[in-house]
Amino acid sequence: MGIFETVAILTATCLAVALFYGLYNLYLHPLRRYPGPSLYAAYRLPYVIANMRGRLAFEVLDMHRKYGPVVRIAPNELAFTEPEAWNDIYGLQGGRVQNPRDKAAYTPPVSDSFGEAKGIIHASDAGHARLRRIYGQAFTPKAIEGLNDMLLKYSNLLVEQLKIAIGTDPVQDLSAWFNYTTFDLTGDFAFGDAFHCLDSGGKSHFFLDTVLAGVVVGCQIWQLERYKLLTILSPLLSLFAGDEMKKAEMMGRYTQELVDARLKEGYQPDRKDVLNYLLQSKKKEDQLETAELYENALTLVVAGSETTATLLSGVVYFLCRHPAVLEKVQDEVRGSFKRDVEITPISVNGLKFMIAVLSETMRVFPPAGFGFPRIISSEHGQSVAGRWVPSQTRCNIFHYAAYRYEANFARPEEFIPERWLVNAPAEFKNDKREVVQPFMVGPRGCIGKGLAYAEMRLILAKMLWHFDFELADPTKQWHERLRSFLIWERTPLRVRSRPVRR
Ligand code: HEM
Repeated sequence: MGIFETVAILTATCLAVALFYGLYNLYLHPLRRYPGPSLYAAYRLPYVIANMRGRLAFEVLDMHRKYGPVVRIAPNELAFTEPEAWNDIYGLQGGRVQNPRDKAAYTPPVSDSFGEAKGIIHASDAGHARLRRIYGQAFTPKAIEGLNDMLLKYSNLLVEQLKIAIGTDPVQDLSAWFNYTTFDLTGDFAFGDAFHCLDSGGKSHFFLDTVLAGVVVGCQIWQLERYKLLTILSPLLSLFAGDEMKKAEMMGRYTQELVDARLKEGYQPDRKDVLNYLLQSKKKEDQLETAELYENALTLVVAGSETTATLLSGVVYFLCRHPAVLEKVQDEVRGSFKRDVEITPISVNGLKFMIAVLSETMRVFPPAGFGFPRIISSEHGQSVAGRWVPSQTRCNIFHYAAYRYEANFARPEEFIPERWLVNAPAEFKNDKREVVQPFMVGPRGCIGKGLAYAEMRLILAKMLWHFDFELADPTKQWHERLRSFLIWERTPLRVRSRPVRR
């Protein structure tokens, strides 16, 4: 047989196998009765392509609009929109094993210097429970209260440095300034030392740049691993992405230096950083390996900074786009405090309308808009939102899609903070607010929720009290043009700000 015949036979065989595989998925697979676009149900490839383009969350919303509250988004994967699905998929229930994360959807650690098994995100259930208990000490309500001085320090520094920068150029990229603030704060909290982006007058740090670029590129190339292409192509990657890999290594080394320096200082009664809590405990079961300390410090900074900065950027954008809402929230904040020192992590909890504005921002622009899949692990499957789902099915709720789905909210595409008030207008009475879980639920939900609330409330209140702001390019869409991966790929948010004269 000649070379052409051999190639033709091989190609025909591959096509036949692919066709058979697609037909099996469509007509014989246990998920065949779930609705969804045929191509997505037959093959994983459309999901992978949409994901690599940063379009998956938007496409899933379109699918829900067309097919209903449950859609098949890949041969073995379903997306839900009903509030009860949160607990069924992600919660821990008596008599049922925890549904593990589907690692195929998660970016591997930005720096792999310490081994992914050491980190809270990728740890096994048993390892995770141990890490969660140990790190949990630094996230109790009392511990978060203890961070008040740290929160005030960085929010005041933001105001101070932004005022100086505005003196030179009233148009600033607020998305970058929020990164500086949340990375400095979380760095101080996780490493015991900040990146000094704010006190250097608003300068980025290679660590931030590496994280922000690394997570998006990581999400994209990680998709190749679904076909084992990453493993096959890894020798080529070091040729093409050598610089990026070097930066990730540098970030690993930098983390190591900061953690080592903090450990050398030892336990200090007046410090409130995470490592201080760990150093305080003498219990044998609380002692962590140094690789675990490095990996989790890095995880905390990555998970805690980017998300909060996204939310703050989003809230400024939506307020600028809705001048009446901006005026109302400015009135509330400016009418509540006569002097800056009255704005504290405690006093901001009384700002009911501002809190509603933040809730509405998390609905229309959830900082992690993606679906974080869990694998149904009960041997005989389980019920999710009243439907039977077979074992090994990947199940999600895509935040972005569920929060903008018409069956969950009235006027879902509109930014209306009033829907979150106790006396919400009657048209929002049937809103399913409980579907909005931007921090997720269950044992692997966000550990930093309390800190995130404290940060976003204080920083937004300070910004609203000190500055008037408007979009520098009002005709340009910002949020509408962003790509959504596990996180959003943020572009500069150019805002013209003026300090308020009093
Ligand atoms: C608006 C801000 C935030 C949002 C929307 C957010 C959202 C989330 C979400 C959705 C998850 C779960 C992902 C999954 O299931 O795989 C998560 C996990 C996590 N978050 Fe946050 N987060 C925020 C702020 C923070 C902060 C401030 C910290 C800490 C400084 C933090 C630390 C973590 C950690 C360590 C995990 C992994 C928890 C575990 O696996 O047990 N997050 N976050």
